[in-house]
Amino acid sequence: MSGSENRTNRVPDRKGDRRKGSDRRNVAAGRSASGTSERRSGSDRRDEASWQPVSIELGSSASDSDVALVAAATDARTRAQAHYSHFKVGAALETADGQVISGCNIENATYGLTLCAERVALVKALSDGHSVFTRIAVVADTDSPTPPCGPCRQLLWEYCGDIDIILGNLNGPTGRLRLSALLPMPFDRRLLE
Ligand code: THU
Repeated sequence: MSGSENRTNRVPDRKGDRRKGSDRRNVAAGRSASGTSERRSGSDRRDEASWQPVSIELGSSASDSDVALVAAATDARTRAQAHYSHFKVGAALETADGQVISGCNIENATYGLTLCAERVALVKALSDGHSVFTRIAVVADTDSPTPPCGPCRQLLWEYCGDIDIILGNLNGPTGRLRLSALLPMPFDRRLLE
């Protein structure tokens, strides 16, 4: 058998089976390969999802301690190194014995090395020997609440568990929710046991 015959034998004729990746994924998921109704963009799907799975409660009921924690995050935000996004964020993590460890976002010219405010506060606290946490406040200069990003949710879950998250802006607290509302099906060390 010649080399070319060998190659032909190894690569089957796939005429009639030239479906692209997205069509194959749709078929695998039981959807029509060409269903136009499934061709919604990411922004469409985000708009549909809205904030419905997450309830953010607060109103006028912010406690004095929530206000104080948001104030600490607001102060930390002034030290944000947000030279590229110009989106300054502050965080304040409260330990079980009432200490407050703050953090701000720290960006870098490579962009991808950006450290979020929440993770800066967390790694500061952990490296100083704190290990039990009760709440974290996150502050940005936005009307609607700025929630922790996905990687921050994962790290907060790992080291803090289901803590309260106090969201705020420069006027004070704007929302309060539990981390489990933001990360309802976490992957964590229990799954590795
Ligand atoms: N950022 C935070 O520090 N925390 C958040 O919860 C959301 C995003 C930062 C990362 C980056 O420096 C800037 O905000 C824009 O994404």
